Amino acid sequence: MSSKLSIFICQNCGTETSQYFGKCLNCNSWNSIVEEIKSKRSKNQETQHSKKAIPFNEISSKKISRFTTCFQEFDRVLGGGIVPGSLVLLGGEPGIGKSTLVLQSAAKISLNEKVLYVTAEESLEQVKIRWERLNQDNTDLKIFAETNLSLITQEIKRLNPSFAIIDSIQAIHNHEMESSPGSVSQVRACSTELQNLAKENNIALLIIGHVTKDGALAGPKTLEHLVDTVINFEGDNISSYRLLRSIKNRFGSTFEIGIFEMVEEGLREIKNPSSIFTNKENISGVTTTITNEGTRPLAVDIQALVNKTFYSNPRRTTTGISINRLHQILAVIEKHLGIKLSEFDCYIATGGGFEINDPSSDLGVAISILSSLKNVPPLANSSFIGELGLSGQVRKSNNLRVKIEEAIRLGIKNIVVPKLEEELNHSFENLINIKEISNIKEAVEYSLSK
Ligand code: TYD
Ligand code: MG
Repeated sequence: MSSKLSIFICQNCGTETSQYFGKCLNCNSWNSIVEEIKSKRSKNQETQHSKKAIPFNEISSKKISRFTTCFQEFDRVLGGGIVPGSLVLLGGEPGIGKSTLVLQSAAKISLNEKVLYVTAEESLEQVKIRWERLNQDNTDLKIFAETNLSLITQEIKRLNPSFAIIDSIQAIHNHEMESSPGSVSQVRACSTELQNLAKENNIALLIIGHVTKDGALAGPKTLEHLVDTVINFEGDNISSYRLLRSIKNRFGSTFEIGIFEMVEEGLREIKNPSSIFTNKENISGVTTTITNEGTRPLAVDIQALVNKTFYSNPRRTTTGISINRLHQILAVIEKHLGIKLSEFDCYIATGGGFEINDPSSDLGVAISILSSLKNVPPLANSSFIGELGLSGQVRKSNNLRVKIEEAIRLGIKNIVVPKLEEELNHSFENLINIKEISNIKEAVEYSLSK
């Protein structure tokens, strides 16, 4: 027995209420609430097949064997490949390359596993054109062009693949619901049904969802708590580089990134990413820092432009680092080096606009600013690592060993770092010139004296 229940869902943020409001109580958007009919299961149905709790020690510790996506970069972001039976959400702006990435991957996976690619946005012919462009070998990939959820679930049950892809969740619909495809209620209902199906049959499921920069299509956002892993595919229309970033991962670290380049024949992995974010020119206002993204060190240039201001409030803008960090670094320079930066505009940009979250980039930012201000290039062939404390001291950085190793690998000759442990310093003797400093003043004296 089942009865119907009316609920009201905000199409912007997914908040559920039991009555209609003109304005959403959560996100304050107007006229975004739509009525949905939800079927309510009777209690008898819920308790039909009850499971029993078991002692912890009885859980079998069978090792899960993940399967590879055939892209090292993609595998790393997933925490080492796809976990069987897991649910992955791949988000990104339209046109960024999500379909291309999964099609390339699915083609390779299908050589060893049964894979189903459900294309709800493109016809079979359109997928074929992409396929030819990607120059793929023969594969056993199954393709299904359909938008109706019940037909999709039927096909998944019939084929019982080990990996299925839904491209995209906004394009499929549950015909029992009145709302249009892509609405929050449709996205949620379809995902829940697909998730249950995947869990019951131990199918790894990858759902593609479009997310625009301003969050206008908030549908997939409301799915984040539902899935095991959320991955974002980022980039801009100007550069051909694409970044795969994990935002949530039940089976791995959330700080990992994967870097790709979109070329004529689809996506290509960038195995040596430090080379694309650095320029290796010794000019004033540019330094190189080494940040940590997950388990991987990455060299990135930091460019600064410091100019006398013509405004009553000097201009400060950043690309790739947070504006608050810049304000803090400027305050430290002003206080501890006695330089009146309030008379100067200051612009900061990282190499390729790469977003740096590692605070050990502070020293690089500070030296770039001072180098641009004084119009003096920094110490040639050097790299700067260290977080700036509010009292002007340079604080310890995480993973210094891997960062120094990356600098050596890139052929950097000098590295300016916070005080190291004796043993660490000795292990790099003759490989790189390490300068240990304890505050910003020492760093400036060492790296900006002509
Ligand atoms: P697509 O995978 O369709 O994006 P999404 O699924 O995220 O909407 O990628 C579309 C863009 O990628 C399109 O602008 C063209 C470009 N592209 C290439 O440059 N090379 C290729 O081989 C392919 C297939 C696409
Ligand atoms: Mg697509």
